[in-house]
Formats: sequence, structure tokens, C-alpha cells
Amino acid sequence: MDVGFLKENLAELVSTGDLIRKYSKGNAVFNAYHWTVLKLVFLKLYLQEVYTPIIKKYYDNMFYIDPFAGSGLNKFSHMEDVFVPGSPLVAWGFAKKSFDKLFLVEKDEKNCEALEERMGLVAHPENFEVIPGDANEKCELIIREIEDTPQSHFFAFIDPITFEAKWETVRRMLASGVRGDFIILLQTRRIAQNVGH
Ligand SMILES: C[S@@+](CC[C@H](N)C(=O)[O-])C[C@H]1O[C@@H](n2cnc3c(N)ncnc32)[C@H](O)[C@@H]1O
Repeated sequence: MDVGFLKENLAELVSTGDLIRKYSKGNAVFNAYHWTVLKLVFLKLYLQEVYTPIIKKYYDNMFYIDPFAGSGLNKFSHMEDVFVPGSPLVAWGFAKKSFDKLFLVEKDEKNCEALEERMGLVAHPENFEVIPGDANEKCELIIREIEDTPQSHFFAFIDPITFEAKWETVRRMLASGVRGDFIILLQTRRIAQNVGH
């Protein structure tokens, strides 16, 4: 990937983040680091260029699952006034073919409120569901709803802070009769800090 290409994609994220900040009333933001933007650029390009154009050709229903959805906006901790959209807004805003529905789980109440409001700026209410609570409890209902929808495919973006995603939750999605693609992020530095290294 050349640097110009990366910069263009980064600029698109930053200008979208700026718009969300301007139009959103909520204050909740996630503190972003340099790797945050790389994961979001990767998510943007994968959904835009690979996943959605291919999957929508073969499946009638295409779902996005974000079990650790955040507040919809990330702020760079080491830069003044630089914002990038959170993963749900990237998934909705940059997909070449729109998802039929986004399932967005978030444990923190303030993040849920902000996410609901921010998603409402860009998507119709029938296209997303913000689900308050623990991802490990809520994923069962989500996967069942997808299993009950014929001709479905899902994309799951699993992005916990450290160890919050239980293997049983991931296993349930992997073992479903419905086909899915996954991006699973493991923040090794934070995990190492947590286990005392
Ligand atoms: C790394 S952030 C997600 C950032 C988001 N994916 C993005 O790119 O904008 C992790 C989020 O998971 C939430 N969280 C932590 N434990 C959770 C749990 N057990 N269930 C649901 N959400 C959880 C946190 O409140 C935080 O907002």
C-alpha cells in the first residue's frame, strides 16, 4: 500500500469524523491511538472494495455485527481536534453496497446514547440497532435473527479493549449455519499490560 493511498483514505476518515463531531450533540468519544486509524482504514477498504461488492452479488441479506461498537466517534489523544468515525459509522458510510442491517452492541450507557444519535445522522432507524449490554450475552439473539433470515451473510468486527470477547461467543458465530467473515482485533500491548508484562 503506498503512502499517498493511505493518506487519501485517512483524510476521508478525518473529514467524516469532523462532520460527525459538528452535527452530533453527544460528547462521548473513545481515545484513539495511531493503531486505531490503521484498523479503521483497513475496515473501510475491506468493506468498500472487497466484502460488500462481492457478498451482495450472491446473498439477498447482508448483516454487520459490531459487538464492541463504541460511541461512533474516536478522538486522537495526541492531536488537538482530530476525530475519526467509529467502526459502525465506517461500516455504514463507506460500504459500496449497503448492509441490510447493523447490529451494534455496547456496554457503556453514554456510548450507547451517543452511538444511537450519531447513527441516526447517517442511517434510517430500520437499518441499525444499538443494543445496550454485554456482547457475550447479546450475540446469541443477533445470530438467531440472522439465522432466521433466508439468504443471509454476515460480517463481524470484533474489537474489544482487551479480553472482553469470550471464546464461546466467537465459537457460536463461527459454528452458525450462516456464513460469515470476521475481523478480530487483539490489542497485544494492552493484553500484556493487563497480565503484568
Ligand atoms: C476498542 S472500543 C471499540 C471501538 C469501536 N469498535 C471503534 O472502532 O470505534 C471497545 C468498546 O467496547 C465496549 N465494551 C467493553 N466491554 C464490553 C462488553 N462486554 N460488551 C459490550 N461492549 C463492551 C467499551 O465500552 C468500548 O466502547
